[in-house]
This record gives sequence, C-alpha cells and structure tokens, in this order.
Amino acid sequence: MPLIIGVVRERAPGERRVALVPDTARNFAAAGAQLRMEQSAGIESHFLDPDYPGVSAVAGLAEAYGGAGLILRVAPPGPEEIDAMPEGAVLIGLLAPYGSPERLAAYNARRLTVFSLELLPRISRAQSMDALSSQASCAGYQCGLIGAARCTKFFPMLTTAAGTIRPARVLVIGAGVAGLQAIATCKRLGAMVEAYDVRAAAREQIESLGAKFVDTGVSAEGAGGYARELSAEERARQAERLAKAVAQADVVITTAAIPGRRAPVIITTDMVARMKYGALIVDMAAESGGNCALTQPGEHVIANDVNIHGPLNLPSRMPTHASELYAKNLWNFLSPWIKDGQLAFDWDDEIVAGTLLCKDGITVHAGVKQALGGA
Ligand code: NAI
Repeated sequence: MPLIIGVVRERAPGERRVALVPDTARNFAAAGAQLRMEQSAGIESHFLDPDYPGVSAVAGLAEAYGGAGLILRVAPPGPEEIDAMPEGAVLIGLLAPYGSPERLAAYNARRLTVFSLELLPRISRAQSMDALSSQASCAGYQCGLIGAARCTKFFPMLTTAAGTIRPARVLVIGAGVAGLQAIATCKRLGAMVEAYDVRAAAREQIESLGAKFVDTGVSAEGAGGYARELSAEERARQAERLAKAVAQADVVITTAAIPGRRAPVIITTDMVARMKYGALIVDMAAESGGNCALTQPGEHVIANDVNIHGPLNLPSRMPTHASELYAKNLWNFLSPWIKDGQLAFDWDDEIVAGTLLCKDGITVHAGVKQALGGA
C-alpha cells in the first residue's frame, strides 16, 4: 500500500497559503506517494484543482485525511481537524509548538508523529527546508511595501521641476531574515535606511545591503545563533541609544523576536511620543506581542499622530510565492525519507530529531517541554 498524503484547505482565519503546490505534487507522485487534496484547497494561492497532476480532489476533511500516512499543513490544525487525522499518521507544518499545550495533548492522544518546522535546526544542510526563513523573506518584503505605501513621503530622492524631494528615512529594528529583506526592499525603493540588531554578525549583513548600522553597544548572542533576552540594564542602554534614530525616522519597521518568547518591547510609549508627526511603525512582531508598546495585533492604531500597524500573517498577503517556497521546504525535508513510496525516517538524523515535536503519544522536544513546563 503506497503512502497516502492528505492536504486540506487551511481553515485558520486569513490563512491563504497551501502546503502542496503543483510542482511538489509532481515530485511526491514520482516518489510513489498517492495524493489526496480537499477540493479547492489551493484556490486562495491561485492554484486550481486541475493544476495538480495526479492528485485526487476530494470533497472534505474526512475524505482528504482518511487513511493518510502523511499530512501536510501550513498552520496548526484545529480540534476537528486533529480528530480527522488517522492514528499514527505523520503531521508536518508550521505548528506553533509553544502555542498550545492542549493541542500537543490532542496530537499525543492520536499518537501522531509531529514535525514542527519552527524547530528545524538552523544548520547549513537544513537551509533548503527552512520554512521560517522562506516565510520571513515574504514577511520582510511585505513590511517594506506597507511602509512605502502608507508613508506620506516618497521613499526615493526625487529631482522635479518643483524642487528636490529628500528621501524618506527608514529604521529597521531586528535584522534577521525578515529584517534584511525589509532593508533590501526599502533600499530598492530608494529610502535612506538605518538598521539595528543585537547580534554582532548582523552589522556586516546590514552594511552589505547599503544600510547604516545603528550601534547601541548592546550585543546579545544566544543559543543556536539566535538573540537572547536582554537584561533590564541592557534594555535601558538600548532604548537610550535607539531613541534618536526612532525620533528621526519616517518609517520604523520592527522584526525583533526571541524564539518561544514574547517579542521584546523595544519602542516604548515615550519613544512614540517623540516620533515625527505622521511617522509610521510597521510592527512585524505583532503576532508575538509586538516590538512597540502600543501595537495592537492585527490593528492600525494612531498615537500622537504616529500610525502603528500590527499586521498579521504577512506571507498570506503573497500566497502564491509564499506557498511555492513553503511547499518546496516541505518536499526538501521529506524527500530524503521517502523510499519505495514509504516513509522511513532516520530518527538519529540531526534534522529529523531536532524538528520532531511528538512521537508515540508523548511530546519529545526538550525545548518545548521545558517551555511548557513538561507538556
Ligand atoms: P528571529 O526571527 O528569531 O529574530 C529576528 C531578529 O531579531 C534576529 O536577528 C534577532 O537577533 C533580533 N532581535 C532579537 N531581540 C532583539 C532586540 N532586543 N533588539 C534588536 N534585535 C533583536 O531570527 P531569524 O531571522 O529567524 O534568524 C535567527 C538567526 O538564525 C540569525 O542568526 C540568522 O542569521 C540565522 N539563520 C541561519 C540559517 C542557517 O544557517 N540555516 C537560516 C536562517 C537564519
């Protein structure tokens, strides 16, 4: 019996991406898998059922997941979806592993083998599978576009018959994958860009994109190449040095994050009060609480004539390319382990072991267990 792969229409509000695209469907079919996809599952990403070669379009959840040995998802499943998954199936997606102990319990009750791509080790061999990076590129690009579209100034310098327009000033805080993409996007549009990150390595990357590094003297490298949380003294020093750059900016884009934690609050209410009238904050960290104290996730708030945007699920604003990249990440993760149309993982492989969240009825990921108090 060949491996059956099930894919449904994503049900999370505002989720427009899909976990399987025609190219990867072709790859899975060539590897010997049978594919079942809920009707119109790709429509929000503009992939129509007939675009998927060799995939059976089925009527609903039960039909797509029934008998599936592998379930591909974008966002975490709801309770009804977990109930429809066959016991012992393999589930993979961006599953917000720190988000809900109840969801982990539901996976374990069905003895699912669960891979959460947020946990993927950030090693060179895993780059082609790195869904956080592919989706962060989409999000950073969108932040740059939102900044340019909502700014009341031109981004580029313009010389016109009526006079010369000075370029807009953009400050990007947090220069990981998303922040670097936001910098590159704003530079391409002609803005004057400054940027800041707590990781020392970010300076060279910021400067290689032609932006100016804002040096606060605070450096905070954590485990696995990520940033660590700042101490109260470091936060105060950072705020003092950043305040001037924030006050001068026309657009501030914030992307700072600490894995598994609330996003650090970097722009205080006081800093907003000292910003230019009409300035703009695009807070990409809204999803995990926001880098600005005044951000309301999913909302646009105005404080002191400063517009604060907290957009959610930015990759879904460009679902076609976001889905293409994401589906390719899934294929790159899974394809080494599909042999003769069956899944056969090497549980000792660093990438497999590092990404594994639940197996055989228990939560196995040490970091998640620790964060959730032994879930
Ligand atoms: P992320 O989404 O976890 O965080 C975004 C950025 O916020 C990071 O650059 C972080 O340093 C910064 N940040 C955190 N707290 C801050 C604060 N208080 N003030 C200012 N900035 C703050 O990071 P992302 O983009 O997922 O990348 C994390 C690391 O992984 C980076 O070192 C990146 O270069 C590395 N990486 C490695 C890959 C590989 O080798 N396969 C692939 C992608 C990323």
